[in-house]
Amino acid sequence: MENDGKDKNYYIETYGCQMNEYDSALVKGLLEDHGYLPVARPEDADVVLVNTCSVREKAEETAIEKLRNFMGLKKHRRDMKLGVLGCMSENRKDALFQRLPKLDMIVGPDHYDRIPELLGLAGRNLALGLSERSVYEGSFAATVSGASAFVAVQRGCNFHCAYCIVPSTRGPEKSRKLADVVEEVRRLAAKGVVEVNLLGQTVNAYRSPDGSWIELLRAVAAVSGIERIRFTSPHPRYFTRRVVEEMANIPQVMPHFHLPVQSGSTELLRAMRRQYGRTHYLDTVARLREAYPDMAITTDIIAGFPGESLEDHRETLSLMEEVRFDQAFMFAYSPRPGTPSALLEETIDAAEKGRRLAEIIELQHEHTRQRLDAEVGKTVEVLLEGPSRREAREWIGKTPHFRKVILDLGEAGSVGQRVQAKVVARRGQVLWGEPLPG
Ligand code: 5AD
Ligand code: SF4
Repeated sequence: MENDGKDKNYYIETYGCQMNEYDSALVKGLLEDHGYLPVARPEDADVVLVNTCSVREKAEETAIEKLRNFMGLKKHRRDMKLGVLGCMSENRKDALFQRLPKLDMIVGPDHYDRIPELLGLAGRNLALGLSERSVYEGSFAATVSGASAFVAVQRGCNFHCAYCIVPSTRGPEKSRKLADVVEEVRRLAAKGVVEVNLLGQTVNAYRSPDGSWIELLRAVAAVSGIERIRFTSPHPRYFTRRVVEEMANIPQVMPHFHLPVQSGSTELLRAMRRQYGRTHYLDTVARLREAYPDMAITTDIIAGFPGESLEDHRETLSLMEEVRFDQAFMFAYSPRPGTPSALLEETIDAAEKGRRLAEIIELQHEHTRQRLDAEVGKTVEVLLEGPSRREAREWIGKTPHFRKVILDLGEAGSVGQRVQAKVVARRGQVLWGEPLPG
């Protein structure tokens, strides 16, 4: 396809979650289909796009800062186009146009398929919002390198967690057609991908006219070449006994689950509108452990939600002790304008929030170290992702439990190769292994 008859270059910068990374790959694919070529430096690009995140205030500030810098490039390159993609396009549209009036376009997460067309238009200040929706039927994120790839199976979210901006930036839940997902996975496998990470805001709530969550997992597992399936993030509500049992019969599903808990206090979980309490969460973990006795489990935790008492905070620490997460993403609560909890008065000042977060982080680091130390001496299968930057003989890979391992292969490895290795040490949060003969 063409673009005004001459080559044009684009540069895209991505903030936020894996869904944003996936979306940027989708946009890359669309632009390249229309004759645009990628460049490594924004100053060389005719089109600069910033894929933004709104999940915490800091993410928004970073993106605005970056956009200001890119705006400076326009002084020398009057024909350069600057666009904002991602979650800020939805909830910060007016503020963005006000603070950065020279923006050329703002495109929300459901309208990326119109970017090539918008770039061809002469006008400025074009904004596309959530009003019309798309699940990108028949569109496939084309660009992939390496052994592992993300595949979006669901967009948006039907939950209304009190702190979360996502339902307003990405709209209600829409599952992609199972057939489209499988087609995308097939194309990835044909390019050498052996591991897929299925993405959705509440991914195990997946349900499309042509299949359920379990049917989706089975269909992806049946694609030849796909050895490992991961997904993020599931919601405890959808890990029923039946689902967990059926999942455990699909050997490609890896024994690592990222199951956001957010808090250990039932009362606070209720205030957060999480749709489960402490006991429900712990029961879900127990059910998963029954099916996957040595599973790895990771989580997300928020410290300092409005109304969090010291007792609530201690319950979070005690839940962490009970579960012993392998890893966690830990955040200080950040009120997001437009979310239900933004209307609640903040009851914990920044210093106390920081103190609680630090306590959570310290405990988690201790658990992470202990979990990793317990791996030393074990034999694991490592899926090679690439050579380390330090040493050509050193390769980085992941175990089925999503643990990072560095191996001194002593010879050339290849991306996507699976190597049996003995874990010999832990350094920081990384395991070191020795390849086993054979
Ligand atoms: N403040 C702090 N953390 C948040 N998250 C989502 N919204 C907020 C917020 N307003 C965290 C949650 C979620 C992760 C992606 O980001 O833990 O699971
Ligand atoms: Fe991803 Fe949520 Fe950030 Fe949007 S707001 S980019 S969905 S993390």
